[in-house]
Amino acid sequence: MTYRQYISQIANQQVVALRKDVQYQNYSASQLLQLAYREIAILLDNKAHLSNLDISLLGSQKIPKKHQKLLNNFLKKRQQSVPLSYITGENIFCDKKFKVNPATLIPRPETEKLVDLVTDYLQKKSDLPIEDKTCLVDIGTGSGCIIISIIKKISPEKAKRIDQCAIDISQKAITTAKTNANQIIGKDCQIKFQKISFQKFLPNLFKKNFDSYVLVANLPYLSKEEYHAISPEVRGQEPKKALVGGREGQEEIIQLIKQVSSLASRKKRKKISIQLFLEISPTIYPTIKKYCKQYKYGQVATRPNKYFATCPLHSKTFRDLSGKIRFLKINLNFIGSPE
Ligand SMILES: C[S@@+](CC[C@H](N)C(=O)[O-])C[C@H]1O[C@@H](n2cnc3c(N)ncnc32)[C@H](O)[C@@H]1O
Repeated sequence: MTYRQYISQIANQQVVALRKDVQYQNYSASQLLQLAYREIAILLDNKAHLSNLDISLLGSQKIPKKHQKLLNNFLKKRQQSVPLSYITGENIFCDKKFKVNPATLIPRPETEKLVDLVTDYLQKKSDLPIEDKTCLVDIGTGSGCIIISIIKKISPEKAKRIDQCAIDISQKAITTAKTNANQIIGKDCQIKFQKISFQKFLPNLFKKNFDSYVLVANLPYLSKEEYHAISPEVRGQEPKKALVGGREGQEEIIQLIKQVSSLASRKKRKKISIQLFLEISPTIYPTIKKYCKQYKYGQVATRPNKYFATCPLHSKTFRDLSGKIRFLKINLNFIGSPE
């Protein structure tokens, strides 16, 4: 059989598998076929170093056994709903190749906007005097895609002045993120990776005397119910603790907002700036909004100190490419004067 015939056979069988998946339910037959061919092209490029041009030049030649085997394995795994990125072991995010595996979430294209929001903020942040200390923390780093992309995008001078940390509760994710940082940033990488929950990490972070905290988090935000309804390519394949944020979905995110607000208001400092950049879902947004309103005038802290009344919580939403509310920037600019 020739390359063209074999690939066409695999693509048609892949269409049958794709059609069963809820996430492709609105795709037409020709869109599904296009998708199957695109996946095969990515696979052959990744595993056999064959470009689209190579494949079309080889079209009428006999396909060797090793490439038949490669395509058969691909089809078998895709029929078991294994995502293509886990088969190739990589995913493109912000134009860079990130290693991914079943311990890490596959970076989503919409998260690139979260990177842009933080990058824009850090680049424009020229108001701080040179001696001011800023820390940037990526909470729930997964493959490291967010913090690594931010560091690649900001100027090296700016990056040097920022204390950089990335944390996750999964050791395997931290190992993968470190590998990605070494490959993408290289020897100049200053990110400190740590396996720890934000609940344990933040109290120590706030003991340090930074003038400015920039916290970015794409924490899990699906409810248990949503998790059961999602595509089998996600459920049972990507790590559950990267997807489910609690029974209702927003629990981890609310916990983070509450903890940061509380820690901020307890700081015995005259001036402190805290920016929290969050990826959320439109489903959990109303609950988070209610929460932010409820605590707007500094009622978050459990033990208010004398600076407490001047610690308001301001938030702003941003939409993803499909127009859905997807990001939240919470600003806790805390200017107090000691009595
Ligand atoms: C939705 S994934 C995001 C991964 C990556 N940042 C991205 O955007 O592709 C959420 C990540 O948060 C981690 N995580 C969940 N709860 C956490 C917690 N309490 N503290 C730190 N990390 C947590 C998970 O292990 C997972 O890697």
